[in-house]
Amino acid sequence: MSDQQPRTTASRAETSPPVTTEGERVLLFDTSLRDGEQAPGFSMAAGEKVRLARALEALGVDALEAGFPAASPGDFAAVRAVAAAVEGPITAALARCCAADIDRAWGALEPARRPRLHVFIATSPLHRKHKLGATRAEVLERVRLGVGLAAALCADVEFSAEDATRTEPEFLCEVVEAAVDEGASTINLPDTVGYALPHEVEKLFRDARAAAGTAVLSAHCHDDLGLAVANSLAAVRGGARQVECTINGIGERAGNAALEEVAMALRARPESTYHGLDTTKLCSVSRLLAAVTGSKVPPNKAIVGANAFAHEAGIHQHGVLAHRGTYEVVRAEDVGAEPGQIVLGKHSGTHAVVARLGRLGIELGEGQVAVLFREFKGLADSGQEVMDADLMNLVRALPDGCAGDATPSHSVQTPALNWASCARFRA
Ligand code: KIV
Ligand code: ZN
Repeated sequence: MSDQQPRTTASRAETSPPVTTEGERVLLFDTSLRDGEQAPGFSMAAGEKVRLARALEALGVDALEAGFPAASPGDFAAVRAVAAAVEGPITAALARCCAADIDRAWGALEPARRPRLHVFIATSPLHRKHKLGATRAEVLERVRLGVGLAAALCADVEFSAEDATRTEPEFLCEVVEAAVDEGASTINLPDTVGYALPHEVEKLFRDARAAAGTAVLSAHCHDDLGLAVANSLAAVRGGARQVECTINGIGERAGNAALEEVAMALRARPESTYHGLDTTKLCSVSRLLAAVTGSKVPPNKAIVGANAFAHEAGIHQHGVLAHRGTYEVVRAEDVGAEPGQIVLGKHSGTHAVVARLGRLGIELGEGQVAVLFREFKGLADSGQEVMDADLMNLVRALPDGCAGDATPSHSVQTPALNWASCARFRA
């Protein structure tokens, strides 16, 4: 790649990703409280859902799905509590295409300022045969019935064709047309089992455009093959203007597309679209969700993992000390993470050690640095992170101490870095 890189590549990462309102808006629909909590061990009580819903509202999500009221009396109460608590975003409740579910969902949404009924039915041949025992015609009839009932109650209806990516394309178009005809204003085409590839998803959305008319097309991708975020971005390329996702990528099986990853990919690599999140809240919402559900965020998780902006390898430390864009494509502060996380360990080099000493107010001569660095490597080889206190002990143990040593020969510029001396957050 030449030095003359386009404005949207990593070379620009020392400044924020552009917060633009150019192009078309992509709505971010969070389903952590519904699809997310359907994963084993992720059940949330009403109070916990309300806490998270408030955090999602502050984050600026366009819509949040509060639950599946027909699933249990507890979830009905939880959806009601969320609907009463949230003011800004749309509050959605899920229902199958049947009167009992729809009535229940509508009851739970009663206190919502901006309610949305979200009705779904499976459309793929596998699901029709083994789950529903229904023909195409019967599925179409249920789509019409469910969307029609929902639209009679609520002005905002979303319809999802479950397992859309494994549905015959011509039948999917018929289903979409029927749902729009009955009043759905959002058409969601889920990759329910995380099976599709990005180029297929892009095509699916392009092909569905005409059938959807003026309805918003929505993506809902699962991560079974690790492609949920890539597939969501492909859907946006294909014309989706709503992406359904979850904080930390929680959700059924391997989870859903991670909201923080979709949001930052759309911002760091914009392609004529924008979204309205306050991304500086991403890390705090991620931590809240982890705390509420008792699930740890893996350290290497993109955007919100403890290591997402941490550098231990000497070559990388040297690079980011000189220019953060060398190894960071998003600014830590833009997602609410701590910038300048230089971790001292066995892979670290002298640049990082000298810079950390400088931050501690210690300047050593070249000879002392060489001696200290040997001792540092010995300590770091034990596999532990070397903390400031360890470094101070090494300084004290130097033959001449650090006082009175002449002009420092190692000088490292760290103007853009806030040296967080090992105060990295750990989720
Ligand atoms: O994955 C899926 O298909 C769903 C639908 C119910 C929207 O979660
Ligand atoms: Zn799902």
